[in-house]
Amino acid sequence: MNELAGKHIVLGLSGGVACYKAADLCRLLIKEGATVQVVMTEAAGQFMTPVTMQALSGRRVYSSQWDAREPNNMPHINLSREADAILIAPCSADFIARLVQGRADELLSLLCLARPVDRVPLLLAPAMNREMWAHPATQRNLAQVAQDGAVVLGVGNGDQACGETGDGRMLEPSELLEELVAFFVPKVLANRRVLITAGPTFEAMDPVRGITNLSSGKMGFSIARAAREAGADVTLVAGPVHLPTPRGVRRVDVQSAQEMLAAVEQHAQSASVFIATAAVADWRPATSSSQKIKKDGSGQPPVLGFVENPDILATVARSPHALTGDLFCVGFAAESHDLLAHATAKRARKGVPLLVGNIGPATFGQDDNALLLVDAQGHRELPRASKRTLAHQLVAEIARRLPEQ
Ligand code: CTP
Repeated sequence: MNELAGKHIVLGLSGGVACYKAADLCRLLIKEGATVQVVMTEAAGQFMTPVTMQALSGRRVYSSQWDAREPNNMPHINLSREADAILIAPCSADFIARLVQGRADELLSLLCLARPVDRVPLLLAPAMNREMWAHPATQRNLAQVAQDGAVVLGVGNGDQACGETGDGRMLEPSELLEELVAFFVPKVLANRRVLITAGPTFEAMDPVRGITNLSSGKMGFSIARAAREAGADVTLVAGPVHLPTPRGVRRVDVQSAQEMLAAVEQHAQSASVFIATAAVADWRPATSSSQKIKKDGSGQPPVLGFVENPDILATVARSPHALTGDLFCVGFAAESHDLLAHATAKRARKGVPLLVGNIGPATFGQDDNALLLVDAQGHRELPRASKRTLAHQLVAEIARRLPEQ
């Protein structure tokens, strides 16, 4: 996906070992469709050559405010006016201090100062030793730059180039990419808490076997990411799937339908939206053996009894929180045929305001899908697209159905 198509990013490098990650970040930004103009401080040039950054960005690198290549000799004005965002990665402790003071004696801090604050956002990816990060001066400066309108992206924790371990590592290039993409998404779910179920459930027969299904969890994980990008506080209750947790999303891992229900009930009270994408097993073995069920030599398979699992969506939709309209419930229906008729009937049966239908075999494990939205007013198709695109469209559809805050 070209998630940054049409965006022009000024990527600023200040001095720090994490400059090596900026090279990869530059490639990722371009791969997502952005154009990237690299600006480096003199200190950054000690860690990374402009040659590398020029080769990766396909543009001349700027590093001096006296760069006469610009016809008007004002690179600080031209570069900052063109940008859709300025991202400083790595952003050193010294550079943060310079921003606090509004210093203008070198190009990168000068162009940050010269940017139109209401139109060109400034995002900072700090990178420094843990003691420098924890120092009151740095924390004070960070609070000040945030107050002055910069977006401070936070830091990672772990091994540092100096051999110490702690907070202060620059976020990984893929994390910075996610943050930048999220930054541009309209915040239609700001101040909303969204609870999502995703993936299959696993109903144990014994310690090594059980019943499950082919749900990959991709749709639910995509919706969790899109909801968080739209500004929501997101809790994702996930069955057994091997998908990375979207950045900024709280994940609760469960196995069975009963565990999923318990986790959902714990979080539903404080949520304002519940989206049930999980392919919950309708049945579970009536008994689960604590030891592996062995063949007994008779050639006869064991007789398994089943009991019905709780319907998580219907249970939540019937709760007082939902019935009073404080919790907006969204169900999914995976059908094999007659999608509209089944989805309409399922919406009524589950008692939810919005039901999202899709054709099961056409979606399980796939990266794209097509959705049919059914509500009290009628139905609407979201044509085949990537699950990521559909997730954004669905989030927008949900947002416009929510009561005003
Ligand atoms: N769901 C749930 N708990 C269950 C079963 C389903 O929360 N025990 C939710 C799913 O997450 C989905 C919706 O209910 O949002 C529809 O699930 P589906 O399995 O397609 O429908 P069923 O109720 O099982 O109906 P049918 O067997 O007729 O398809």
